[in-house]
Amino acid sequence: MSLSLIAKSIGESATLRLNETAAILRAKGDPVIHLGGGEPKGKAPLDAVLAATSAVASGEIRYTPPDGTPELKKAIIRYTEEFYGFRPAPENVMASGGAKQAIMTALHALIDPQEEVIFPVPYWVSYPDMVKIVGGVPVAVEPEDGSFVPRIQDIEQVVGSYTKLVIINSPNNPSGAVYPEEFIADVVEFCERRGLWLIMDDIYHRLVFDGRKPINPYDYAKDRSENSKLILVNGVSKQYAMTGFRIGWAVGNRKLIEAMTNIQGHETSGPSVLLQHAAVGAINGLQSPVEGLRATLENNRNVLINELRAFEGVTVENPGGTFYSFPDFSNYSKDSVALSEFILDKVQVLTVPGVEFGMEGYLRLSFCGTIKEITEGIERIKWALDPNSPNELYIGERKLVRDWT
Ligand SMILES: Cc1ncc(COP(=O)(O)O)c(C=O)c1O
Repeated sequence: MSLSLIAKSIGESATLRLNETAAILRAKGDPVIHLGGGEPKGKAPLDAVLAATSAVASGEIRYTPPDGTPELKKAIIRYTEEFYGFRPAPENVMASGGAKQAIMTALHALIDPQEEVIFPVPYWVSYPDMVKIVGGVPVAVEPEDGSFVPRIQDIEQVVGSYTKLVIINSPNNPSGAVYPEEFIADVVEFCERRGLWLIMDDIYHRLVFDGRKPINPYDYAKDRSENSKLILVNGVSKQYAMTGFRIGWAVGNRKLIEAMTNIQGHETSGPSVLLQHAAVGAINGLQSPVEGLRATLENNRNVLINELRAFEGVTVENPGGTFYSFPDFSNYSKDSVALSEFILDKVQVLTVPGVEFGMEGYLRLSFCGTIKEITEGIERIKWALDPNSPNELYIGERKLVRDWT
């Protein structure tokens, strides 16, 4: 088939594929545990549900402006002012079909063929392919000290004449690391000084633990004018447990937002009006669901990390936010795809191979499920990997026999 060169270079999203695998296995009645998920299990906030249902009931379901309804933009402006101390104008805001589409549209608006986009390792699975879709060149930077936390020197070393944009995601998917304030300050200052665009992907914004406060890049931006190249991306998917609603947004300078809006207008005409109503409900409604989710995730994190710390041969950093941990399983296998497949095959636990995030020997384990899923999932993985495990394991009525070494 004569697919385009770009289409041929783009792979399937590993994490979305896993969701599909989990659904297929569950439909077959298999007792699968999904530790590879990327979405909170809880329900969407009532304010969001009520706003969407009353919008459906009105029967008036039409196009909206391609950058979002005035109500949603107002809610995003209020949110930005409340949490970032920066009040954008409506012309600085574009709502989108999830944070993913906001990033994608920014890339379309900024990147010419061969221009480079830098992001630290480990990175969100989609960044490399998103950059390739627009003809750009993804440049993944490994922190020199082997940690999950980059230093500005790491970024500096790979900046060249083709560099156009840096993407920073903190709290980070997949490591759960919250980058230190000094790094955020350094990267904002560095990009301003070098005239580089900077996307701050803040999709896990308020999902931080141990009394941390979300870090605000605007605190370090000297230039808050219409020349600013700082782009803030956020959305309702993770903090409000509204992944299926597909609403995210970008805040940036007017010229960029105008270009992004033109592109989005031609591509999708903007996000659905119903889902925009739901997002307004969530952003303007009671915020207790966000704190409830955050506290549940912190407790889940504690349980998972305790389990992993007692897992001989595995080392893990304590995630400061998100709902992901990124333990090092290289003592068991350096091939994370083979290891993930082995675990799924033997004990029906889904994990995401570290190589999808740019780091071999690691697995991403989520803690957005229930405590039972976390503890049972880790127990099964231990049983599969530890050669001293008992010969048999019961999953409900089902008896598994260890016939491998
Ligand atoms: C780092 C990061 N950015 C963006 C997204 C996309 O968010 P949305 O569901 O709002 O498109 C995700 C989702 O997994 C993510 O992990």
